[in-house]
Formats: sequence, structure tokens, C-alpha cells
Amino acid sequence: QIRSGNPITITDGNMTRFIMSLDEAVDLVLFAFEHGESGDILVQKAPACTIQTQAEAVCELFGGDKNNIKVLVMRLDIITLFPKMLSSFFEESILKRAQNKQLVEVHFHDLHDYSQNNYGSVDDYAYGGGAGMVIGIEPVALCIEGLQKERKYDEIIYTAPDGELLGQSRANQLSMLNNVMILCGHYKGIDYRIRERLITREVSIGDYVLTGGELAAAVMTDAIVRIIPGVIGDEQSALSDSFQDNLLEAPVYTRPREYKDWGAVPDILLSGHEAKIKEWELEQSLKRTKERRPDLLGTSGKTKAKKSK
Ligand code: 6GU
Repeated sequence: QIRSGNPITITDGNMTRFIMSLDEAVDLVLFAFEHGESGDILVQKAPACTIQTQAEAVCELFGGDKNNIKVLVMRLDIITLFPKMLSSFFEESILKRAQNKQLVEVHFHDLHDYSQNNYGSVDDYAYGGGAGMVIGIEPVALCIEGLQKERKYDEIIYTAPDGELLGQSRANQLSMLNNVMILCGHYKGIDYRIRERLITREVSIGDYVLTGGELAAAVMTDAIVRIIPGVIGDEQSALSDSFQDNLLEAPVYTRPREYKDWGAVPDILLSGHEAKIKEWELEQSLKRTKERRPDLLGTSGKTKAKKSK
């Protein structure tokens, strides 16, 4: 017998995530079936519960294929010329907690260790001239192919300004993978054949140029790891973030209720009327999104569905 009430994560076809109890999930799947919707449902590991058992039970109930269940703990392999730039970042706060809880494993690989010469260098002059050095094929191929011999990777990501722009829905998708490799970009680039042959996805974190891919890798990992269920204590807080539903967040306040003449906390928040507060928050979200990021509105049907849930 499975215990109901444990939180599980399910993800719809838009890669929007919902965390709910098993009972709710069952209701939702039934509803979808009744309305002729099908599609993949991914169930993600939640802490302190045997999600595999739960997911299998859901499959049994609905005649689903147990082989399609994904139970996830992520392994990240980060290849970089500057491991120290990244390691301190992973030893703090939420990323550290994620590792302590064994939800995420991070392994760094220093490209210098794969150098093919006596100087430990991994770059060389670019064919055709031009300023700057280019990272050569051999060290990168040795490192990546070595790792691939150990396990199968879902994605091998290269961080570069000419990659696909990272957005919340891509972060959601990536957070459901098991084995992810990230090759940090380099200011003058790597031999293009590596990108063609070994890289499965190229990601940029914004339209500006950084000196290297390390910060981009850190930003991307942070965005991915924080939404893995169990990483943030209150799972709902990650799901109600700005961008999860294409809406910006409503303003938040804490004590004191009044500070000098800086204005009071909106009365509605002190009313204790939960439904009215939710309504106010949605209003604020819509208003702020309209003012600040009108581009987020009207791009998908997700917005309404999520907030009204
Ligand atoms: Cl992934 N790399 C570099 N070097 N610059 C960037 C970037 C990545 N994303 C935005 N700018």
C-alpha cells in the first residue's frame, strides 16, 4: 500500500511543473483521461518518500508503462579551466544543501589535467589568425569521452553567448535530467569540431558577453538545481516564482507595519482573508507584468491555468 499525501511533482506537456499530493495527481490524471488528453507525465523524486513506489502505483492504476517512470537525482559534471572559480559557489547555501541532501552530485574536471603537452596548456593559435587562443580538441575530447565511458549523459551543454537563451522552461526541463555535463566556454572559443561532434546543447544566459563560461555555468546550475524538489524547503516557493507562470511576483512585506513615513503595508495583507489576499496578489502580478515585462503576457495559455489552480 502506498501512502497518499506525499508530495510528488508532475510536469505537463509545456514543462510546467506542479507539485501535489498523490491523491491530487490521481485526480488530475483521471481528469486528463476523461478529457481525452494524453502525453507524458514525469514524476520527480521528492524527499523522504519512495517516489518510485508511488509512481508505479500511479502506473498500475492507469495502466501506464512503468519503464517510463523517471526517478531523479542529478549528477553534474562541470568541465572548466578554472575549477576554483566554481567550487566556492557550490559550497554555499542552496547548492550546498542540495548536495548534502544527496539530491545533486557535482564533479569538477580541470581541463588542464587533460593537456597533451609538457606545459599543461590546452589552447593554441587559431587557424586563420586573429587575436586570442582557442581550446584544442584533444583535451576536451579526452575528458568528455572519458566521462561518457562511465555513464550515459542526457545532455552535454556548452556555455557560449551564441547559444540558446536560457529561460525558465528550459531550466525546468534540464532539472529533470539525471546526468548532465557542462563544458564551460572560453572567451575565444573551442575548436568548432567539439561543438559539432560532442555537444548536445549550447546555452547562453543573456545578450551580453562574459569573459568565460564559468559564471554562466554557475547561473544555469543555480536555476536548474533550486527547482529540484526537496532542494528548497518549501517547494511551493520555487514553483510560485516569477517566470514559472510567466508572471512577475507581487510585492512582499514584513514587520514593522509602519516605518517612518515610508508608507504602510497594504491593509489586505493584514486582513487574514486568504482568498482576498490571493486575488490581490494575482492583481499585483498582472499589473507588474504588464508594466515591466509586457512581453511575458499573452505568449502562452499557461498564465491563467497556473494562478487559478
Ligand atoms: Cl554562456 N558565455 C559567455 N562567455 N558570455 C555569455 C554567456 C555565456 N551567456 C551570456 N553571455
